[in-house]
Amino acid sequence: MSSRCFDAEAVRVRFPGRVILWFDSVGSTMPLAARLAAEGAAHGTVVGAEEQTAGQGRLGRSWYSEPGNGLYVSIVLRAAHAAGAFPGLTLAAGLAAQEAILRACGLHCDLRWPNDILIGDKKCAGILLSIEGGAAIAGIGINVNHSCFPPEIAHLATSLRLAGGREFSREKLLVELLESVDFYCEMIGREGIEPVLRLFTQMSSYARGRRVVVETPSGIVEGITEGLDAQGFLRVRTDNGRLERIMAGGVRPAALR
Ligand code: BTN
Repeated sequence: MSSRCFDAEAVRVRFPGRVILWFDSVGSTMPLAARLAAEGAAHGTVVGAEEQTAGQGRLGRSWYSEPGNGLYVSIVLRAAHAAGAFPGLTLAAGLAAQEAILRACGLHCDLRWPNDILIGDKKCAGILLSIEGGAAIAGIGINVNHSCFPPEIAHLATSLRLAGGREFSREKLLVELLESVDFYCEMIGREGIEPVLRLFTQMSSYARGRRVVVETPSGIVEGITEGLDAQGFLRVRTDNGRLERIMAGGVRPAALR
């Protein structure tokens, strides 16, 4: 565990009026934020924790949440578009995290549809979106100051510290993250998801021209990515010329041949 506790007050003073709850240890911030949303919590409410003992990842996986070294937050989003949150809001949350990491740490990340944030070919952050009543809950996990990972995920995961060669302020990162999330929510409220899709396509090396393998609920799809459709789903051209629309699943680079 890091020797320094997270200073939630330093973040609160930057966002007057916003509820930012911070816990030493929780199972997962997701059900806590979902309960608050069900009870009427305001847009922008944040639930964060130093440690998650049952951190949730996408596709039923767990999220490794080392105590004191990561940013583990769930944010209640009550934008009018919450009902159609996937994948537009998910993609926006990825852009927000990518931008926050650049601003706070000076590190350039890649995005892999729908919501993996990568440095090189390893994941430094991930996003889990769930819907609770009329609100979306954006769960964002960033590996900030981890110096190593358990052997079973070490080949897949990295941290900002491992990539940048020094420790970073988690408070500064959360301030940038909340500012970016606010920016993208306002953008979607004003202009819909079209600008998000355009930006995501620009900022993700996976969006076009990458040979990928996708594990979808209905089987494996392999082919070359061809951008996003109007809803934000990934298009993949398979070797037999079919254009597949990926609505869910895990994307990874195909082995070179
Ligand atoms: C993924 O699989 O890439 C999504 C990971 C999401 C992790 C975050 S950490 C904060 C929030 N609480 C959770 O239990 N999960 C999300």
